[in-house]
Parts: sequence; C-alpha cells; structure tokens
Amino acid sequence: MKVTLSREAAPDLDVDALIIVEFEGSRRADFAQPLAVFYDAGEIKGKHSEFTLLHGLAGYKARRILIAGGGKRGKFDAAELRDLAGRAVRYLKPKGVEAVAVALDEGFDSPAYAAAAVEGAILGAWEPDYLKTENSDKDRTIESFTVIAAGAEAGLTAALERGRIIGEAANLTRDIAVEPPNLLTPLALAERARRMAEACGLAFEVLDQNRMRQLGMGALLGVAQGSAAPPALIIMRYTPEKAASADHLAIVGKGVTFDTGGISIKPAEGMEKMKYDMAGGAAVIGAMQAIALLKPPVAVTAIVPAVENMPGSKAQRPGDIVTSLSGKTIEILNTDAEGRLILADAITYAKQLGATHLIDAATLTGAIVVALGHTSSGVFSNNDELLARWMAAAKEAGEKMWHMPLDDDYREQLKTVYADIQNIGTRWGGACTAAMFIREFAEDTPWVHVDVAGTAWLDDAKSHMAKGPTGIPLGSFVTLAMNWQKT
Ligand code: BES
Ligand code: MN
Ligand code: ZN
Repeated sequence: MKVTLSREAAPDLDVDALIIVEFEGSRRADFAQPLAVFYDAGEIKGKHSEFTLLHGLAGYKARRILIAGGGKRGKFDAAELRDLAGRAVRYLKPKGVEAVAVALDEGFDSPAYAAAAVEGAILGAWEPDYLKTENSDKDRTIESFTVIAAGAEAGLTAALERGRIIGEAANLTRDIAVEPPNLLTPLALAERARRMAEACGLAFEVLDQNRMRQLGMGALLGVAQGSAAPPALIIMRYTPEKAASADHLAIVGKGVTFDTGGISIKPAEGMEKMKYDMAGGAAVIGAMQAIALLKPPVAVTAIVPAVENMPGSKAQRPGDIVTSLSGKTIEILNTDAEGRLILADAITYAKQLGATHLIDAATLTGAIVVALGHTSSGVFSNNDELLARWMAAAKEAGEKMWHMPLDDDYREQLKTVYADIQNIGTRWGGACTAAMFIREFAEDTPWVHVDVAGTAWLDDAKSHMAKGPTGIPLGSFVTLAMNWQKT
C-alpha cells in the first residue's frame, strides 16, 4: 500500500473513495447542502461504526465519499481513528476500490492521528487466506492510501512513515503467526526471521540443538525432545548508531510452533488453535523489523526460543527433573506448562548477553483468558519503573494491557522437595504462578512479562480486523524502544 500525504482540499482529491469522519450531533458545514436530506432523514447520525457511502457527490472529484461515524467527538482518539480506518478499508476493499484517502479534520490531524490512520488501513487490509487457491477477493488490494492533513509537513510525513512501518511489521507478524504448524516448524520460523534480519541489516544468529546442549539449556531442550522437528534459538540484534544510554533492552517471545501439551496432552477439541503458540515470537520478529527501520536510540536484542511441544517417544515425562541454563533445577509436573520452561532459558541467555531490561511476550496461560478475556493482555513485572514505561508505551500504541499481581505468595505454590522449583502451581491463579516461575529466572533484572494468550488471536473477524493473529504486542515493543530516551 502506497502511503502519501496530501495538502489538497478534500474536494480536489481524485481517488476512488474519500473517507470523511462525522461526529454525533454535528452537521458538517462543507457538506450541509448536498447531505441535508441524509441528515434530515436521520440517516447520518455520526454514530460510532455508522457508514454512509455516496457516489458522485457534486463538487467532489472522488468517485465515492464514505461518511464514517466517529461517535462522540470527546471520546474520539488516535486508537479510534486507527480502528475506523481499518473498518473503512475492510468495507471498501470488496467493492474493488483501489485508491483511498482520508481527510483529517482540525483537532484530529496531529502526527499521532496520521500515523494511526495509516496503521489501521494497513492492518485492516490484511487477510489470513494466503493458502486459498480459489478466492476472487484475493486479487483485490488497496493500492494507495492518502492522508489529507494541514499541519506541519515534516512531522506528518514522518508519522505516515512510522504508521506504515508499524502496520507492515504487524502484518509480517500476522503472516508468520497464521502459518500452519506443518509448514512453520522451529527451523522455518528461524528462516523467516533470518530473511527479515538480512533484509533490514540486523545481526542474526541461530543456536542449534548441539549448541544449546553445550550451553546447558536443559529446560528448553526438555520441551523440544518430544518432537522430530529440531528446536532453534533465534537471536536478532539492533545496535543504534548513537545510543542514549548504556541500557540494553531484550525482547523475548515464546515460539512454540505447535503445542499439543506433550505427554500431558491437551483435549482434541480446539487443539488446532495451538498453532498460534508462537505469536509472542512472531511479534518479536515483526517488532525487530520496525525497530531496524525506525532506529530507536537503545540497543535491542530479540530472542525467540522456537520448539514444538509433542508427545513423541523421546518426550519428557511428568516427574522429569531438568537443569536449566541458570543452573536451577526444575521438576516437570505438567509437560503442557512448556512456555515458561523455554522462556526460562531464553531469559537467562538474554541476561548472559548483557540485557539490562527484559520484556517477554507469550501465549502463556489459559488462565489469563479466564481472567481478562480477549480485550486486555496481562502484565506482570518485578520493577515499577519499567512497568510504568511499558504501560505508557502500550497506551500510546493503542494496545490494552492490565497490570496483574505478582506477590511472593505465589512462589509457595512452586515449591517442591525434589528440585529448586516445579513448573506448575495449583488450579487457581494460573497466570500469576506462571509469571512467578519466569520471575525466578529474570531474578533482579528489571523485567515485564506480557501474557497475550487472550489477545494475540481473534477467533472471529472484527469489523476493523480479520480473524486470526492480531500482531499484539508489537506496537508496544516498538513504542517502548522509540520512547526509550524520553523516560
Ligand atoms: N499455550 C498454552 C496456553 C494457551 C491456552 C494459549 C489457551 C492460548 C490459549 C500453554 O502452554 C498451556 O498449555 N498452559 C497451560 C498451563 C497449565 C498446564 C498449568 C494452561 O493454561 O492450561
Ligand atoms: Mn502448553
Ligand atoms: Zn503453550
């Protein structure tokens, strides 16, 4: 999608469809005449999600005008505009529209709004259908997206570029996350990351099984050993030309390409969904693409432990005790609590590489879905300062996050007489005990854990986004890195 800024007056723009946002209770002066009949009939109310499509409006070069309801003016923000742009693109695309523009009104034309409009349009255009061979809609693409805004040009141009980079990175994440598990093995995931890293000039490395054995990553290898597909530890590094500080941020994403549960096998119903158990890893890979292009002032290392959790004849058993890279021993009581095991070794490795700040994203627990549903991701942290920065970045990125507790009490549930720690707690507070387990390996390094089990995947399409992977929390990763020196 080609993205451009236009300084023209809205009526002069020659496009297939021009999006105009209308708010509740107002009547646009510029449209009042031709649209009076719609307003009078109550057909245009400006209500949230309301769309009115007009063809051949007198005085306008655009072939179509889409009057899009923005709801209450006071409640409208950049995140609302992002969703509105996505909704509009999804509404227009099946009609064969190729050139789309949005006119940003005064008060809603800052760089943040411009970036949000572009990001939303790119996210809205994505579909999970790349393996369909018969699909006429597949050829339909929005070729260009123009933003009409009057503010300072440099800021707006940079914002459009930022919106495009983040939107396209999120779609890369979604392309990877939607791939079926027979095609996206751990090694295939590593290849996807390598292609991205080489194209963007990031340092790239993969640790194979032998190397991981030498290093002593017993927790990760224990999960991997039940699968015929070998594991991979994917490492991508971004080094800024001018770092604002000696800080070194590590972003770690769970990369379980398929989670059967292992010997503690999951029920058949819905198991196919466990192909998205690498969504955290895919978000980390997408985030690194955006980071490579946007060049934040902080060093960022990305780590994706990639494994398949299978119940093969060599699979680990409940009762096994493994020695993690940290040296701590772990009693495996449930092989389905595998995410925390691979994250334990990945986080220890990030620390060994010199990370001063850690963020991990993982589809870690069903319990977080019980607690927060599909709206907010659960956030856990051992450091209030990094937590505050993360929550601010998430807010700016328009990704909903909720701070969850991490009291020492939860550690009691992980005690075992046979090893240093066991990999599950009781039935209750499962998202919190899982986070507590990871905390054990983050130790005193400032760390934030984001459980995206409920938010990384949409079971049903929304009006602004297709069914399937959402890309979350890529936006927060990138925004956190971009804002590093400001905080
Ligand atoms: N990948 C799952 C968590 C998950 C569940 C992600 C639903 C997305 C949707 C994870 O590996 C898992 O199996 N967790 C177990 C932990 C339990 C065994 C302590 C769970 O949540 O049931
Ligand atoms: Mn599992
Ligand atoms: Zn899992």
